[in-house]
Amino acid sequence: MLSTPKNLIWVIPAEGCGSVHRDKQPPTRTGGRSSCVSMLAVDKTEERSCGREAASDSARYAIRTDGLSKTFERDGQPLPTLNSVNFHALDGEFVSIIGPSGCGKSTLLNIIAGLDEPTSGSLSLYGRQDTTRLGSVGYMQQKDLLLPWRSVLDNAILGLELQGIPKHEAKVRAQEHLGRFGLEGFEKSYPHSLSGGMRQRAAFLRTVLADQEVFLLDEPFGALDALNRTRIHQWLTGLWESMQKTIVMVTHDVDEAIFLSDRVYVMTARPGAMKMVSDVEIPRPRSMDVIATRDFMDIKSALLKSIREEDHLEDLP
Ligand SMILES: Nc1ncnc2c1ncn2[C@@H]1O[C@H](COP(=O)(O)OP(=O)(O)O)[C@@H](O)[C@H]1O
Ligand SMILES: [Mg+2]
Repeated sequence: MLSTPKNLIWVIPAEGCGSVHRDKQPPTRTGGRSSCVSMLAVDKTEERSCGREAASDSARYAIRTDGLSKTFERDGQPLPTLNSVNFHALDGEFVSIIGPSGCGKSTLLNIIAGLDEPTSGSLSLYGRQDTTRLGSVGYMQQKDLLLPWRSVLDNAILGLELQGIPKHEAKVRAQEHLGRFGLEGFEKSYPHSLSGGMRQRAAFLRTVLADQEVFLLDEPFGALDALNRTRIHQWLTGLWESMQKTIVMVTHDVDEAIFLSDRVYVMTARPGAMKMVSDVEIPRPRSMDVIATRDFMDIKSALLKSIREEDHLEDLP
């Protein structure tokens, strides 16, 4: 029997530092989780105190953004895209982000990965603001970006080659993983001859092989059908639990976000800001049966309500 759920929905204030309640601990992988559901709040008191955090506290944050904003230019006009985004992922957490199309999700991941810079606000990785981010996180972009002239194996080892690992050694490492990624027998194939799901898995293999502490996944399973998604969710959970890494995933799939994550953020329509964050305290390991539980459905309905509020008619194609 599950303990009494605290199904509270907390709305994140427009301004704030995004810190969690002080009694929150980083997630543990082996048991010890309560089975209740709760939604985290960011309150104004914490907002004021966030600048004075102890260094040890900030080290728990694998990623943290405070008031991060981005404005692009389109046709000579400013295009506000991210609006004071307060987001964090603790070391070892699996965090998902859901938001309407065009709200700035990929832009946020691009900035975290170091492919772009914020217009204002701050971003830190493991408490460090001034490091060069490019290459220090594994990033699987929305488009798989496999190089068409390279085979699956040669695509998979690209990150390792860029890190200076000798090609032969990189290939040995990649070959060890081909089976787990469902790519055995396809290592010599070229991207054009693969299914969308296979291309996605090849890109995912390349990301994982780069062996960073933080992985950013932008709609990684978009090309997979429902059955394959379910299988890959369970596979990914196992992989994440064995890797002990921090993962931030952008997805449109609410079930996927809850099933995989420790926390799920919801963004507003553009200019995107974090409007809600839901803590998923469903114990791990999770089987697919959890999606029928009361706790799961409570989180899902809260997330869907929040997402629906951002559905504007003008977004229709
Ligand atoms: N480099 C860029 N220059 C100008 N506008 C951009 C650039 N990148 C993204 N945008 C715009 O920013 C908005 C958010 O894009 P994106 O982050 O890709 O959204 P999402 O991933 O949430 O669908 C869109 O309106 C997009 O056209
Ligand atoms: Mg995107």
